[in-house]
Amino acid sequence: MIEIMDKEFEQIKDIMYRRTGVHLKPTKKPLVMTRLRGRLEELRMTRFLDYIVHLEKDKGPEFEFFINALTTNETYFFRHTKQFNFLYEKVFPELLEKKKTSREVRIWSAASSTGEEPYSIALTAKSFFKNHPGWKVNLIASDINTEVLEDAKNGIYSERSIKEVPAPLKQKYFSECDKNNNRMWQQYQLSKEILSMVHFTQHNLLGQFRERDFDIIFIRNVMIYFDNESKQKVVDNVSASLAAGGYFFISLSESLNDVRTSFSTVFSGVYQK
Ligand SMILES: C[S@@+](CC[C@H](N)C(=O)[O-])C[C@H]1O[C@@H](n2cnc3c(N)ncnc32)[C@H](O)[C@@H]1O
Repeated sequence: MIEIMDKEFEQIKDIMYRRTGVHLKPTKKPLVMTRLRGRLEELRMTRFLDYIVHLEKDKGPEFEFFINALTTNETYFFRHTKQFNFLYEKVFPELLEKKKTSREVRIWSAASSTGEEPYSIALTAKSFFKNHPGWKVNLIASDINTEVLEDAKNGIYSERSIKEVPAPLKQKYFSECDKNNNRMWQQYQLSKEILSMVHFTQHNLLGQFRERDFDIIFIRNVMIYFDNESKQKVVDNVSASLAAGGYFFISLSESLNDVRTSFSTVFSGVYQK
């Protein structure tokens, strides 16, 4: 069995940090070993050191595999439900007034993982704007991990993932998948009507996003993996993509206390530029 040496783990940590901003804690060593071991075997390598040399020379595909294997993608629908209530009750009504000329709302869910967050935004927007015909919701979602983006486009979710979806929305927009797929848990297919509201694209938060002027940006449960330097970079990039008066959502276990921003707090985990 291939084992990872402390020095090799340090080098992997360094590559991950340089490329994604994610700081792998020492406790992640066993996880790194199990997630990459199979790849080393496929490449007929017997030492992590050889894999590190291979990775450093790589121009893309191996790095993509590396990121996909090592990112943490835990998520579920309507995570921090109160923030979605705030979106419905405070942010959307305010935008009706602010954007009454263009009648277009621009939203970005960055670090969207397998899509539960952007689709929760889409479901909230659908419920709100059905009473306001003529409005367009432009919803973009991104992640650095290409595998989760593919899963997100398929829109198939487990019972566990949709447990916080309000019953009427679950009934209207989710259908049970065929039980013959040999899975232990029931899977649900999200309707095309909601799938088509979100456009997915790959983006690394350490760089500037090509799109600007968002009214709302969600970057939740990813900055917990960043140190202050990376977090500052991400927040500066977000700030550049957010319209004046725009809302920035982070998770309830994160804060912006240790970075410089031009935002003010308006709700739990919600800031305004
Ligand atoms: C724990 S999930 C959060 C999902 C969702 N935002 C939520 O709060 O439920 C963190 C996501 O951040 C992504 N990620 C990590 N580093 C990133 C980076 N530098 N740029 C973009 N996405 C990144 C991971 O691939 C992962 O899907």
